[in-house]
Amino acid sequence: MTQDELKTLVGRAALDYVPAGSIVGVGTGSTVDKFIDALGEALKSDPQRVAGAVSSSVRSTQRLESLGVKVLPAETVTGLGVYIDGADEINHAGDMIKGGGAALTREKIVAELAERFICIADESKLVKVLGKFPLPVEVIPMAAAQVIRAFGPLGGVGKVREGVTTDNGNLIVDVTGLQITEPARFEADVNQWPGVVTVGVFARNKASVCLLGTADGVKTLQF
Ligand code: 5RP
Repeated sequence: MTQDELKTLVGRAALDYVPAGSIVGVGTGSTVDKFIDALGEALKSDPQRVAGAVSSSVRSTQRLESLGVKVLPAETVTGLGVYIDGADEINHAGDMIKGGGAALTREKIVAELAERFICIADESKLVKVLGKFPLPVEVIPMAAAQVIRAFGPLGGVGKVREGVTTDNGNLIVDVTGLQITEPARFEADVNQWPGVVTVGVFARNKASVCLLGTADGVKTLQF
């Protein structure tokens, strides 16, 4: 199976985790696009399949609305049953690196609203130690150079992602060379650096379940 087919597989499988008539939290990315498409299909035969969605990006909002899903502002929602999103890397404890699509801040906000994070990913995303994928960090523009310098002593080499402004008007710094062996501590530390809006380690909001697309079908990892 191609990577695209594996994404379709897990995107469809995620629908089983969405309670009928609920409001669902929706992440961002090519795998989530497959979930949104599956949701759109389900709505054709069952218009009450979901009551609406809370979206983590302009991109996902547009796709959801084009398929007839009502998108509710996160500010109006106090809790969600599930949040469905992809990952750039996930370890065997459910900690993730996210932000390849630059939507990490809103993703973390919507994930925090949800009881369960259902991660959908193809098997190439499963790793022993987080850090091979360049870690995205959303930063206030005037802090970018300072944040890059601060990664130096940790062995990280940061670079501002060219041509990208986030939905929140900030920059993304991508950091290579890290080995994130203690994701929760790392996330808490870096989040405190001045000018850091969000670090792309999701340990506080780690996955509850990962639906992993493999050549043998969907493998379910519980954390
Ligand atoms: C966007 C993300 C995505 O979930 C992550 O980049 C995975 O994307 P894809 O499903 O396209 O591989 O964190 O900010």
